[in-house]
Amino acid sequence: MDSPLVAIVMGSRSDLPVMQGAVDTLSAFGVPNEVKILSAHRTPQETAEWVRGLETRGVQVLIAAAGGAAHLAGVAAALTLLPVLGVPLQSPALGGIDSLLSIVQMPAGVPVGTLAIGQPGATNAALLAVAILALSRPDLRKKLADYREEQRKKVLASSP
Ligand code: RP5
Repeated sequence: MDSPLVAIVMGSRSDLPVMQGAVDTLSAFGVPNEVKILSAHRTPQETAEWVRGLETRGVQVLIAAAGGAAHLAGVAAALTLLPVLGVPLQSPALGGIDSLLSIVQMPAGVPVGTLAIGQPGATNAALLAVAILALSRPDLRKKLADYREEQRKKVLASSP
């Protein structure tokens, strides 16, 4: 596979079933991507090292997903100038509201673009990454336009 343009990091292997939606969406658009399990609190050193190396490896967008007191996206954003998209994942105790607030409430200065909780957020993070990449890639922009057109047609064909 080509070197990754989008990197997806998540706090635990248990996050992968939901984040697979992001991987599949990127792959459907032909965007080379890399998936990594790293935790801001369980593997802080390795997380920092990996995030710091992304830009020199040609990655242009980072998607970071975590549940609970989800600090992974914020920590990653502190370590790179790449755009970071955060996906809050459902937590058993609070349904992901905790993850959402942890990711979305970044103090001014180090932004994390925060998506919806769970599966819609995973898909939309990938679509937003595609939109960012499409700014300088006409082929990708065309694919995104086609995707939107498909959605439009599906809705219009769905009335009973
Ligand atoms: C976070 O804690 C992970 O992102 C995951 O969503 C949550 C639970 O992790 P596990 O206990 O399933 O490994 O760090």
